[in-house]
Amino acid sequence: MSVLVCGGAGYIGSHTCVALAAQGHHIVIADNFANSSQRVLLRLQRITGAPLECKHLDLRSKTALARMFATHQFDAVVHFAALKAVGESCARPLEYFDNNISGTINLLQAMQGAGVQRLVFSSSATVYGDPERLPVNEQARLDVTNPYGRTKLVMEQLIGDLCCARPMFRAAVLRYFNPVGAHPSGLIGEDPTGIPNNLMPYICQVAAGRRSQLSIFGDDYPTPDGTGVRDYIHVMDLARAHVDALEYLARANASLTVNLGTGHGISVLELVHAFEAASGRRIPYEIQARRPGDVAQVYADPSLAQRLLGWRTQLDVHAMCRDAWRWQSMNPTGYERAKSEVRARGVRKPPQTGQSSDAVQ
Ligand SMILES: NC(=O)c1ccc[n+]([C@@H]2O[C@H](COP(=O)([O-])OP(=O)(O)OC[C@H]3O[C@@H](n4cnc5c(N)ncnc54)[C@H](O)[C@@H]3O)[C@@H](O)[C@H]2O)c1
Repeated sequence: MSVLVCGGAGYIGSHTCVALAAQGHHIVIADNFANSSQRVLLRLQRITGAPLECKHLDLRSKTALARMFATHQFDAVVHFAALKAVGESCARPLEYFDNNISGTINLLQAMQGAGVQRLVFSSSATVYGDPERLPVNEQARLDVTNPYGRTKLVMEQLIGDLCCARPMFRAAVLRYFNPVGAHPSGLIGEDPTGIPNNLMPYICQVAAGRRSQLSIFGDDYPTPDGTGVRDYIHVMDLARAHVDALEYLARANASLTVNLGTGHGISVLELVHAFEAASGRRIPYEIQARRPGDVAQVYADPSLAQRLLGWRTQLDVHAMCRDAWRWQSMNPTGYERAKSEVRARGVRKPPQTGQSSDAVQ
C-alpha cells in the first residue's frame, strides 16, 4: 500500500514508519516538525535502508494538503499529527482545537476530495477520563477532563459521523494507553522538548544525569504499593498494531475502535525498579503529594483488538525499559545535538544492538 503518515516524524509515527516499511508499504511522511526533529528522517533511512519521502507541511494549510494529494495516490492515511501536552492544552485550548480539530477536518476533506477511503487514527485512553471499572473496555463511558482529551473525543466523533455518511469510508480508531520504549537499534525514540510530561522519559533523563531526581506524585493511592498504576505498552508493539489495522481496513468491510494496551497495570515504583534493573542505574526519587486530576489506576481490556486484528503485545516491561535506556544512552540529548549526523551522507545500516525479545498517563 501507499500510505500517507501524518505526524510520521514524531515519537509513535516514526516507529510506525519502520513497521510499515518492514511490511513493504510505501510511505510518505507529512509533518510540520512542531514537535519533532528533521534528523529523525536520516535515522529512519538508516533503519529501513531505503530513501524516505517527507513533505514539510502543516495540516492546517488546505493548499499544501491539496498540492500533496494532487501529486500522490494514497491507499490509506495514518494520522498521528496532533499536539498532545495536557497542561499546555489547558493553558492554550484554542491552539489545541485549531491544530488538532481543524487539521483533522482539513485532512478528511483532502482525503474525500482525492477518494482516499481508509484512515487509521491515533486516539488515546484519555477519552475514558477516570474510568468506573477496570480493565477499561471500549464500551466504557467517555468522559474527558481537559482540552487535549476533548480534541481526541471530538475527532473520534467527526470520524464516526463521516463513516456513517460515507459507507465506503473506513476508519480504525486506536486508543493508546501509555506508549514507552524505543526501536531496538537505539536510533529513534521519544525526544521530549523541555521537562518531560511522561514518566518514562523523565526516568531516562534522571538515569542520564540530566535531572537530579524523580518526583513521584502520591504513594497513598489504593494500589498495591500506593503509587499510580498505568498500562505501559512498548512503542514497537503499538507500531505493529497500525500495520494490522491497515490490513484490517483493507480486508474487512468495517470500521473499528479498539484499545491498545497490554491489559496489565504497572505502578510507578514497579517501573522505576524495572528501569533500574534494565539500566544498572539508580533512580533517586522523592514522594510528593498527589497531583489534582491524577487517577489511581487505568489499564486496558485489549481483547477486542486481539479478536479483530489478531494483535497482542509481545514485549514486556523489561524490554520497554531496556530499549528506552538504549535510546537515551545513545542520544543523551535527543536528536538535536547529534550534529555530526547532519553532515553524514548516504544510508547506513544501524548497529546490531540486539532485538527486543520479550513481551502508558
Ligand atoms: N505519546 C503518548 O503518550 C500518546 C498517548 C495517547 C495518544 N497519543 C497520540 O498519538 C499521536 C502521536 O503521539 P506522539 O507521542 O508520537 O506525539 P509527537 O508529538 O511525537 O508526534 C506528533 C507529530 O505530529 C506533528 N504535528 C503536530 N501538529 C501538526 C500539524 N498541524 N501538521 C503537521 N504535523 C503536525 C508533530 O510535529 C510531531 O512530529 C498524537 O495524536 C497523540 O495525541 C500519544
